[in-house]
Amino acid sequence: MKENICEEAQKRLIFALDVPDKKKAFFWVDLLKGKIGVFKIGIELFLSTGPHIIREIKKRAGAQIFLDLKLHDIPATVLAACRQAVFYGVDFFTVHVPPYKGLFNEFSSTRTKIIGVTVLTSLETEDLLNLGIARELAIHPEKLALKRAQLAKEAGCAGVVCSGKEVKKIKELFGEDFITITPGIRLKQDNVHDQKRVVTPYMAIRNGSDYIVVGRSIRHTPNPLNAVRQITAEIASALKEITPPRG
Ligand code: C5P
Repeated sequence: MKENICEEAQKRLIFALDVPDKKKAFFWVDLLKGKIGVFKIGIELFLSTGPHIIREIKKRAGAQIFLDLKLHDIPATVLAACRQAVFYGVDFFTVHVPPYKGLFNEFSSTRTKIIGVTVLTSLETEDLLNLGIARELAIHPEKLALKRAQLAKEAGCAGVVCSGKEVKKIKELFGEDFITITPGIRLKQDNVHDQKRVVTPYMAIRNGSDYIVVGRSIRHTPNPLNAVRQITAEIASALKEITPPRG
C-alpha cells in the first residue's frame, strides 16, 4: 500500500520543462525520469526545438507528455492544431476555454486529453480588471474560473487547468472524472515569483487536484531531487487522507 501511494504521488507530479534548448531539457529528463509522471513542454522549448522534441522526450523519459501551448484562436484553427497534437501522441494539450458547445467532442476518446485553461494563476483582481473582466468576477477570480470550467465542460474538454483554490468546487460541480491540473504550486519556504494564486502541493492534492505542475520550485533549488522528494511526500500525505481505506 505504501509503495502504491508513492508511485501514485509520482504520477501526479508534472515537471515544467521551461528551458531554452534540447540539451537543458535532456539534462532534466535524465535527472527526473522515473521520479515524476509527466513532462510539460511549454512554448519556449517547443519553439526552440520544433515538434520532434515531443517524441524524443517521450522515448527518453518513458513518461507522459503535456504540451502546454495554451491555444487561443478561432475554432477551426484551434481544432486543426488539436488534431496535430493527437498525431504527435501528446497526453495533455492546453487551449484557452472557448465559448463553443461541443467544439472538442471529436477528442472524447483520443489518447490526447484537451485541457482548458481557466484563469492563469499569475492573474489576480487588479490584472483581471485591467483585462476588462466584469468587476463581480474580477474580485472573485474563483467565480471566473468556475464559469470557465463550466464552458470547458460544455465545449467537450477532458478537464481544466485551475488554481488549487477552486479545484474542490470544480470537482463537486463537474465530477471526479473531469481532470484538474494545478500550477502555481509552491513549497512553504519558496519564492512565489510571478505567480499570485499559489498553494502548496499538499493543499492542491487535498483539495482534489489530479495533477500539480511544478517548475521553478524544482529547477531553481540547489538540490532539485530533494525538492522532488519533498513534493512527492506532500502529495503522498494528502493522498493518504483522501483515499478511502480498503475493505
Ligand atoms: O515555475 P512555476 O512552477 O511557476 O511554473 C508553472 C508552469 O505552469 C509554467 O510552465 C506555466 O507556463 C504553467 N502554467 C501556469 N498557469 C497556468 C497554466 C500553466 O503557471 N494557468
